[in-house]
Amino acid sequence: MGLFHTSGQTASSHTLQTLLITTLLLQPAILVASEPSPSNAASQKSQELRHEPIQPLTLPGNLDLQKLSLGERLFHETRLSKDNDMACVSCHDLTSNGADYVSHTPGRHGIKLEVNTLTVFNSTLNHRLFWDGRAHNLGEQIDFVINGKSEFASSWPEIISKLRSDASYVNAFNEAYKNGMTADNLRNALVTFEQSLVTTNSRFDQFLRGDADAITPMEHAGYLLFKAYGCVACHQGKNVGGNLFMKFGVFRDYFAKRGNLTRADLGRFNVTGKERHRYVFRVPSLRLAALTPPYFHDGSVKTLEEAVKVMAEHQLGREIPTEDITCIVAFIKTLPGDYQGRPLQSKAPALKQADAP
Ligand code: HEC
Ligand code: HEC
Repeated sequence: MGLFHTSGQTASSHTLQTLLITTLLLQPAILVASEPSPSNAASQKSQELRHEPIQPLTLPGNLDLQKLSLGERLFHETRLSKDNDMACVSCHDLTSNGADYVSHTPGRHGIKLEVNTLTVFNSTLNHRLFWDGRAHNLGEQIDFVINGKSEFASSWPEIISKLRSDASYVNAFNEAYKNGMTADNLRNALVTFEQSLVTTNSRFDQFLRGDADAITPMEHAGYLLFKAYGCVACHQGKNVGGNLFMKFGVFRDYFAKRGNLTRADLGRFNVTGKERHRYVFRVPSLRLAALTPPYFHDGSVKTLEEAVKVMAEHQLGREIPTEDITCIVAFIKTLPGDYQGRPLQSKAPALKQADAP
């Protein structure tokens, strides 16, 4: 079980092999059979839950509310962008999934971004930010957006000179920070707001905390399969992902089959230049996967069913039966939680099942 607590760093290929071999050896049937019967389950419960490879989400308790609300305002502020036409919220819809529903969002001047939009919800829990992990923390991530040619194409001095003409900002910053409006404080306010974007109280977290009835038998079966097939070797921890770098295409070449290789497909190689990082990505969180189609860094897959199928084939080297895929998808749907006391809702346009297995 200690294996599942790997955190923070790139797993060496040896560790990956060990993880995969360990998990591949565990066949679903064996694990299902070894589940405790309902009669003796109660006594084992607390012990059992502590050892689960997925942990419940909790809200950070001590966020400064003044800074947080300034950050919330900045998240919606178009003056952060050079042409005053784009805000963080333009691509990260907080009333639905913290992202959008297209494969490649149009950025500045309508030019499509290289990769699919990641959700801002729960991003504070990821050990690095972005698909290729190029930002070490939320503060660094913001600078990429501010300076990025396809995003805000601006700079902190430019932003500060615009916001200084707005007395309400100047006053609010003077109240919240000793040294008023500075680049560091603008960044800090945004980060403080992002730290509050945690989705708590999901049905799965209720289950983890001991409410056995919070998920259906089918969803529970999906969780057991998720563990038994070995998905959990990569998608684990509080965020069900977000704490490891792994190659996309461990067993089968995903890119050869898809074709049209792009720069973004090289993944972490673009950050380190190391050959062994070619096609390596930060494992995405599955917390909101049920609400964030389309899937993968290239946004090429429309349904969760198809994404699970692709994962089984390319990351685990096996085909898994449709019934098992259905259960795993049902499990993934129990993972999103509430934001500001309300369950997050998808605003996804109805998806065609054409891609489904
Ligand atoms: C034009 C659309 C767009 C805008 C505007 C935008 N983002 Fe993003 N955001 C994206 C895309 C696309 C990604 C994934 C990029 C990548 O991985 O290379 C992303 C990734 C992120 C991530 C990383 C999540 C993770 O799990 O790694 C965070 C955090 C984030 N954005 C916050 C912000 C903030 C804060 C702003 C405003 C300062 C902002 N975004 C503005 C499209 C946008
Ligand atoms: C060896 C590590 C590994 C294993 C095992 C693995 N995954 Fe993944 N998963 C990844 C990586 C890396 C990505 C990102 C791929 C990309 O888009 O570049 C990913 C992406 C996903 C996505 C898409 C998320 C999104 O927001 O686009 C889903 C869904 C998913 N995995 C589910 C599963 C399931 C279910 C299993 C088990 C059948 C599984 N994964 C097994 C590493 C793994």
